[in-house]
Amino acid sequence: MSKTTITLEPGDETAQVAIGCQLAEALEYRGIVYLNGELGAGKTTLARGVLRALGHDGAVKSPTYTLVEPYDFDRGRVYHFDLYRLGDPEELEFLGARDMFADEALMLVEWPVRGEGWLPAADVVITLSLIQPGRRLVLEAGSDHGVQALQRLAVSSREIP
Ligand SMILES: Nc1ncnc2c1ncn2[C@@H]1O[C@H](COP(=O)(O)OP(=O)(O)O)[C@@H](O)[C@H]1O
Ligand SMILES: [Mg+2]
Repeated sequence: MSKTTITLEPGDETAQVAIGCQLAEALEYRGIVYLNGELGAGKTTLARGVLRALGHDGAVKSPTYTLVEPYDFDRGRVYHFDLYRLGDPEELEFLGARDMFADEALMLVEWPVRGEGWLPAADVVITLSLIQPGRRLVLEAGSDHGVQALQRLAVSSREIP
């Protein structure tokens, strides 16, 4: 049976980063990931895990004002968006986002609702929320690539049935 949704509950920041790493591998470092959830839900922490899987060891600052931060790795490219301060989805056009999305890259998008109507559909939509202790992550596939990635992730992570 193919898997379209999985739920994970990382109990601390370290576990959150580990899931980001597994997600990057499961996606084979390409695709579009939406990160939904309030401020403090752990979106940027998850992005840090993704970037770590590709070899980025340092901190990850939220591109709150620049809206996007590109990263170049041997295995590929990652674009980390934070659209919290995006005024209008059309601004993504002026940002050069069309070319970025045309790249065979891994796209991480915090606050995708701000880009609704312009953003291409996601391969995986992640909804994060606060629980005690830690966070709940509900991951939903939006494409065949997303389904395959979640299948792999269900194996590599400790999925909650
Ligand atoms: N699974 C988790 N359990 C506990 N704390 C977490 C978890 N994931 C992230 N955090 C913490 O939550 C805080 C906010 O995380 P951040 O990734 O900046 O959220 P967001 O980008 O959604 O605003 C950070 O202090 C981070 O260490
Ligand atoms: Mg953030």
